[in-house]
Formats: sequence, structure tokens, C-alpha cells
Amino acid sequence: MTEQTGPAAVKGGRPVREEFLPVARAWLGEEEIREMVDTLTSDWITTGPKTRRFEEKAAEYLGVTHTLALNSCTAALHLSLAAADIGEGDEVITSPLTFCATANVVLHQRARVVFVDVERDTFNLDPEALRSAITEKTKAVIPVHYAGQPCEMDEILSVAREHGLRVFEDAAHAIGATYRGRRAGTMGDTGCYSFYAIKNMTTGEGGLLATNDDEIAERARILSLHGISKDAWKRYSSQGSWFYEVTLPGFKYNMSDLQASLGLHQLAKLDGFIERREQLARRYDRAFEEMEEIEIQRVRPERRHARHLYPVLIDLERLSIDRAQFIEALRAENIGSTVNFIPVHLHPYYRRTFGYQEGDYPVAEEIYRREISLPLFPRMKDSDVDSVVSAVRKIIARYNSS
Ligand SMILES: Cc1ncc(COP(=O)(O)O)c(C=O)c1O
Repeated sequence: MTEQTGPAAVKGGRPVREEFLPVARAWLGEEEIREMVDTLTSDWITTGPKTRRFEEKAAEYLGVTHTLALNSCTAALHLSLAAADIGEGDEVITSPLTFCATANVVLHQRARVVFVDVERDTFNLDPEALRSAITEKTKAVIPVHYAGQPCEMDEILSVAREHGLRVFEDAAHAIGATYRGRRAGTMGDTGCYSFYAIKNMTTGEGGLLATNDDEIAERARILSLHGISKDAWKRYSSQGSWFYEVTLPGFKYNMSDLQASLGLHQLAKLDGFIERREQLARRYDRAFEEMEEIEIQRVRPERRHARHLYPVLIDLERLSIDRAQFIEALRAENIGSTVNFIPVHLHPYYRRTFGYQEGDYPVAEEIYRREISLPLFPRMKDSDVDSVVSAVRKIIARYNSS
């Protein structure tokens, strides 16, 4: 590793890297390309045999009885709520440190979203805060497995059981993660996964709902395609008939065979991807453990972190720049980074509509103010990690205020 200690690139110094390193990048190979061409040259490109096969493979991987391939994780979250009949007058508890989709879907169902703060070390929903936010209107909780580390599920499930709550796991980051031997997304009533372009496995855009609940599975499947009792493949193929009935006012959330073509092979590669992510994350951990200005996300024992993101907290008290300037300085060194997440309650719609303000969820807000997600994707080389560490070290040295 070549250690660069000269002036920061943002001040005109030489960047640590010549080539830009993005924060995330998908990895699609020959297998995906061949499968896609096969689908494109077949008679069927939307929801059909490949989507079904993908659902079967995903059910096998996850060890659940039902999977429903969808066009997003947002759709899986929304269908979970709709299938469980969560609606007006109901309260749903979740973490504010998430993507807005987790909360927006609750509003789509005309239910009330109730945020509770997160644990300081894992950035995951705090089970004690969950317990104290429960009212007689609370019907469900959506634990978000932040960055791919499973939440404290035994405690969350026990609170949920005590109060008769549904548990819909937001496992957008966490396919492949485990908690005490159980897969993230298979411990609650439903698990919702994302296959968005930069997720641990991708279908371009896509998602999956997993459940062991026959009733939820049946309702979610019907709701995912306009509330029609049969899907298009069965209607238009030689096995189908023209007749269908709308049994519920549903949505248009189905995955296509084009997307499933990618998913089939990405799923087969997932464990290898996670293994590489873990190696890279450990390399970061080792370097950052020696830097007082950087705090890493703690991984609790008895779980496998899917390592979707590599978040760090910067000790801004020791620096003369703010977080935005830190990100800019990294960019000048040719390193991409991002922030996960702007807490949902601080977005203008949520402030305006529900009167949220800064200070409402102090732990999530403190994490937000200091958090930066650094590049992490399986195709990265060890030397890429080293260059990020060098850049962080260089920026800290340049802007140290002590
Ligand atoms: C925590 C979390 N939940 C839900 C979603 C929504 O996923 P999708 O884009 O597949 O709808 C995301 C997307 O980034 C996410 O990060």
C-alpha cells in the first residue's frame, strides 16, 4: 500500500487514487447474460416460468414455505401490511434510521407510523424503545436490519408475542444474514428483501416477500397483481383461459422473467459475494480500530452480518470540517461515499405532517450527523480498501483540530 500523506486532493494535492472508486457496484457475469438472452429470445418475458423458478430457489435458500417475487422491496413491505389488513387507526412501529420506503408504505395503508430510537452500537431498532412505544392501537413492528446486521430478534419477537403484534422484517440489506442460526427475514410474519441495483444481489430492480404464513402468502399473491385470482401467465399461455376475477383492489407489483433471469444466478452467487464482503469489511475494521476519529458499527455475537454497507461514524469534534466536507474531500481523493440514512422523521413531509423535529430521536440523529458509508462491493480489491483507509487517514491528518 502506498501511503499518501501530502496535501488533501480537495486542496490541490495529488489524489490517493487515479481512478474513481464508487461506493457500490453490481457484479453481473456471463451466466446472467446468457440467461437474459435466453429469456429475450423465448416467448415469454414477463412473470412466468423463470419467476416461478426464482421463487422456488429463493424459498429453498431461505427455508420458507412461500416466496413472492416482486418489483421492489417497497412492494413487499406494502403487501405485508395490506395482506395482514393493517389499516386506518392502526399503529406500526419502526426505526427512523431507514430508507423512506419503510415508513411510506405504512402511510399508503392509512395507518400511523410510530418511530422508536435505535441502539447506539448496532444502529438497529432498540427493543426496549419498542416496548415503551406500544399502545392498544399498535398492530405491527417493522425491524430494519441496518446495513445487513440482523436486529435483536429474540427480544423483538418476544415483545411482539406479548402484545400480539405482527412482525414484518425489512431485510432490504440482509438477504444471507443470520441471527442465532435463523435467516434474517424468516423470523417474523414476513421478510422483505430488495434486489435494487446495488444490493447484495440484484435483479436491476426487484424484491421478494418471504413467509411461512399460508394466508398472508395467498393474499399477498392476489394483491400483487391487481387482486386478480390468476396471474397473466396462466391466463395467456396454452394452459390458461380468458376468465379472471378481481377479488381485491390490488396493485401491480409483479417481477418479470427478465428480472428473474438475473436473480436466478445472483442468488447462486450470493454466499460467495457475502464472504468477500466480509473479508473486505474486516480489512476496514482492522485499520479503523487504530484510528480514534473513526467508530465502526459493532457486530453482536451469534449473527452473520450480510455486509451490505460499511458505515463508519466520524468524530467531528476532533475535526475542523463537517461531514459534508469530509465526503467532498473523499470525492476529491477519487473515493465515493454516501450517507445511510437521513432519518425519516426529519424529511420535510414528515416534519410538516406530523410535527417531528430535531431531537425527537437523538440516537438516530447523532448517527446520521456523523455517518459515512464507505465503498463496499465484492469486486473490490484489498488495495481498494487500503486506498480508502489512506484517504480517510490523510483527511483526518489534514483537518485535525486538536
Ligand atoms: C432499509 C431499506 N428498506 C427498503 C428499501 C426499499 O427497497 P426497494 O428499492 O427495493 O424498494 C431500501 C432501499 O434502499 C432500504 O434501504
